[in-house]
Amino acid sequence: MELCVALDLPTAKENLDLIHKIKEHSVWLKVGLRTYIRDGEEFLKAIKQINPNFKIFLDLKLYDIPNTMADSAESIMGLSVDMFNIHASAGSRAMKSVMERLNKYDNRPIVLAVTALTSFNEDEFKAIYEKDIATKADQFAKDALEAGLDGVVCSAFESASIKSITNQNFMTLTPGIRPFGEDAGDQKRVADITYAKDAKVDFIVVGRPIYQAANPSEVVAKIFLALSS
Ligand code: C5P
Repeated sequence: MELCVALDLPTAKENLDLIHKIKEHSVWLKVGLRTYIRDGEEFLKAIKQINPNFKIFLDLKLYDIPNTMADSAESIMGLSVDMFNIHASAGSRAMKSVMERLNKYDNRPIVLAVTALTSFNEDEFKAIYEKDIATKADQFAKDALEAGLDGVVCSAFESASIKSITNQNFMTLTPGIRPFGEDAGDQKRVADITYAKDAKVDFIVVGRPIYQAANPSEVVAKIFLALSS
């Protein structure tokens, strides 16, 4: 299992300070929409300058018409990131067009599909998708597999079910992780490392428990220890 640290601090400087503090660890770094809009490609380059071995997950959640998504995915190729994501609800044709475009390259990044945004409650979700979250998340995962994507973003609680209806190599990336049962903050349902390991999650995303800690490097080391035991 890989650890992905969410770079959710309010400024580029604070995010870069955090990266310096954890630079000896082999972690993935999650760059979200706000950071990318504000700090752009320069920020991605600055990460690699601190340690070229850092892997970057560009969390932009693309959603558009198939041709625009394929064009955007091809532009992402130029950023040398290691993973990015698109919305499964953009449809099978859009997902396929992204993968057709990227499969021309032999060094394409990992591509994940967002199933259901965890901010939705059941009623809000049903108003848009007309099905309950679990049913639709499973269907989105199957669509993503069929379109040739590498995996999905989902909750740790959906990971085992998604792997059983797709395959064990189909990746799951799960936010909402509190490695050792730390404060959940605004997350509604959180899982710890033991749960994520049992659910065969491939990537855990951890933000506040690391960047709000007095010693982020110590927390990362503790997570790696728990992952290897
Ligand atoms: O601080 P915390 O560990 O809760 O951060 C989780 C990260 O994962 C944040 O960047 C949040 O936006 C992101 N995320 C999430 N739930 C999703 C998708 C992304 O918490 N469904």
